[in-house]
Amino acid sequence: MAEIGTDIEKAARLLRQGKLVAIPTETVYGLAGNAFNEEAVLKIFETKNRPQFDPLIVHSSGIEWIKEHVAEIPSLARTLMDEFWPGPMTLVLPKKPIVPDLVTSGLDNVAVRVPSHPLTQELLRSLNFPLAAPSANPFGYVSPTTAQHVEDQLGEKIDYILDGGPTTVGLESTIIGFEEGKPIIYRLGGLSVDVIEDLIGPVEVTLNQSSDPKAPGMLKSHYAPGKPLYFGNPGEMIHEFEGKRIGFLGFMTRLEFLPPDRQLLLSPHGDLHEAAVNLFAFMREFDKFPVDLILAERLPEIGLGRAINDRLRRAAVNS
Ligand code: TXA
Ligand code: MG
Repeated sequence: MAEIGTDIEKAARLLRQGKLVAIPTETVYGLAGNAFNEEAVLKIFETKNRPQFDPLIVHSSGIEWIKEHVAEIPSLARTLMDEFWPGPMTLVLPKKPIVPDLVTSGLDNVAVRVPSHPLTQELLRSLNFPLAAPSANPFGYVSPTTAQHVEDQLGEKIDYILDGGPTTVGLESTIIGFEEGKPIIYRLGGLSVDVIEDLIGPVEVTLNQSSDPKAPGMLKSHYAPGKPLYFGNPGEMIHEFEGKRIGFLGFMTRLEFLPPDRQLLLSPHGDLHEAAVNLFAFMREFDKFPVDLILAERLPEIGLGRAINDRLRRAAVNS
């Protein structure tokens, strides 16, 4: 069992010793280690069971730090940083040699982010190195949005979980890279496309659906809960599962033809932000429900609904 607490100094001490600490961010909990210490970074991969071809995001407290490990900041990237950091956005930029190849899986680019969670901000400011941190879940599973989620799955393997309460965004950061000066969204996330486009105009979205190790960042299957999840139109899908105990993960309205105690609604008021906050915790809830499978409804493809649908699609066995 890991200790769960709010002791920032303890977390900092462990990290300085090269140990791993789970940290809260506004998006999801991260499994953090000193990004400049190869042994600590190696431990991150081992603890998560994550293949080393899937690179890590480097977290720091502010733009001053980013300059230490990024070789070049295009002006568009600077505009995005000024507007959305600290916050749920990650930028992929050319790396300096100080960033170990292990962190970037040998790529010339490094993914960087300034998280806004106050505990983690304070922790980062007390360290003289940045933190490499993937989501604090075993590889392929749903990201944790509470300290308890981390404890449930990785508690045996880490010493300390810094408890910052349930996360307030609920989806991982939006990842943006630049190709020939043009911004490209590689992963939909907690900062929605329309908000980005309001600032910098139309942005291409290239979600990699590949399981090809040469295309890191966007492995196709990801975020899977314990029970098989089917994504689409529940009314149509239901006929395929006669005799099975069905759980329903819906947006606003329950299904009349299923028992109410096997249904969870992401936001009865239709608030996409609330739906994002609830998504991963609800996917985990079904692990405890007496159901064989989960039917998940498609949400409106607007705002955060796009990122939520992306996660459901990746979690699904039928897509
Ligand atoms: O919100 C988040 O981004 C959370 C919190 C903890 O910050 N972190 C997170 O990390 O979701 P992770 O490792 O679960 O997902 C990071 C994604 C991976 O899909 C990885 O392949 C991609 O970012 N990535 C990392 N470095 C990259 C790079 N240099 N180029 C392209 N993709 C990269
Ligand atoms: Mg992850």
